[in-house]
Amino acid sequence: MRLLGEDFQNPVLLAAGTCGFGKELEDVLDLDALGGFVTKSITLEERLGNPAPRVTEFSGGMLNSIGLANPGVEGAIRDKLPWIARNIRRAKVLVSVAGHTVAEFHALIERLDDCDGFIGFELNLSCPNDARRDGAPFALDPDAVAEIVDGCRRRTSRLLAAKLAPNDPDLPGTVRRAVDAGADALTLTNTLPGVLLDAASGEAELGAGAGGMSGPSLRPSGLRAVGQARAVTDVPILGVGGVFGPADAVAYARAGAQLVQLGTATFAAPRAATDLVRGLQRWGRRHGVPSWEGLVGANETANPSSGVHA
Ligand SMILES: Cc1cc2nc3c(=O)[nH]c(=O)nc-3n(C[C@H](O)[C@H](O)[C@H](O)COP(=O)(O)O)c2cc1C
Repeated sequence: MRLLGEDFQNPVLLAAGTCGFGKELEDVLDLDALGGFVTKSITLEERLGNPAPRVTEFSGGMLNSIGLANPGVEGAIRDKLPWIARNIRRAKVLVSVAGHTVAEFHALIERLDDCDGFIGFELNLSCPNDARRDGAPFALDPDAVAEIVDGCRRRTSRLLAAKLAPNDPDLPGTVRRAVDAGADALTLTNTLPGVLLDAASGEAELGAGAGGMSGPSLRPSGLRAVGQARAVTDVPILGVGGVFGPADAVAYARAGAQLVQLGTATFAAPRAATDLVRGLQRWGRRHGVPSWEGLVGANETANPSSGVHA
């Protein structure tokens, strides 16, 4: 599928923060059999992350508060990105970045833009565990979204995907601001804020207290967000939230997504993403849908507005 100026061999990507920088999963699944993957979000400084436990589960999915643990931009350039450049051939890689300020996002793009091995950036504007503006993620502040995307746009000609939040009271408005500022694509969505309490002690199950909810319970919010965005823009959308099997991915396509990402499914079954690639082919044969492109109706030629800004 030709999308965003790139040939995606299939629509399945691993979501940010759930596959490290790829190498972490090299013995588990064939990354090059995927449409692509998104790296752990990179911050300017190295971050050790939040106190343990950082992950817990419940009947509807997972709650995490990792706290953006990552080696920082210099560590990533030295130790992580070269492996991707050397080893990943067919999968398309997006580097996720997360700033603490608007200026940090811009500095991250400036520093990373010369590096090899990836097609573009995913701007993590929506991490619920890393609130930066008045206690809320940037994604809930449309002016900040526009300022971040605009500055990143001026610093790179690579693909820019803005990752937004499912709990935005005016998601269509934020989507418009992101696209007008130069986002080539949207990733919808990040996790939903939540808390789990131990019944006996009343203590929060996560070391940081609250966290971000992912997995099956997030799917209805993700689908709604994709549909809301699709109603106001024709840029490509990466649908994410509770994708486990082919029917989930197809539901995202029906809502308006061209690509899907999955994260929590990988924790339940490490090969979930490669299984999904095969599962989608079977689903297509069984339902008489010859190709994913046929389903999403979005090849570059059919959707000229989805190109990367020069
Ligand atoms: C353990 C864990 C770590 C995550 N880290 C990041 C991250 O670094 N950056 C980011 O944008 N999203 C991060 N996410 C959110 C996922 O990329 C994804 O948006 C979310 O989990 C919903 O998809 P899922 O239901 O398939 O897991 C993380 C999710 C989990 C479960």
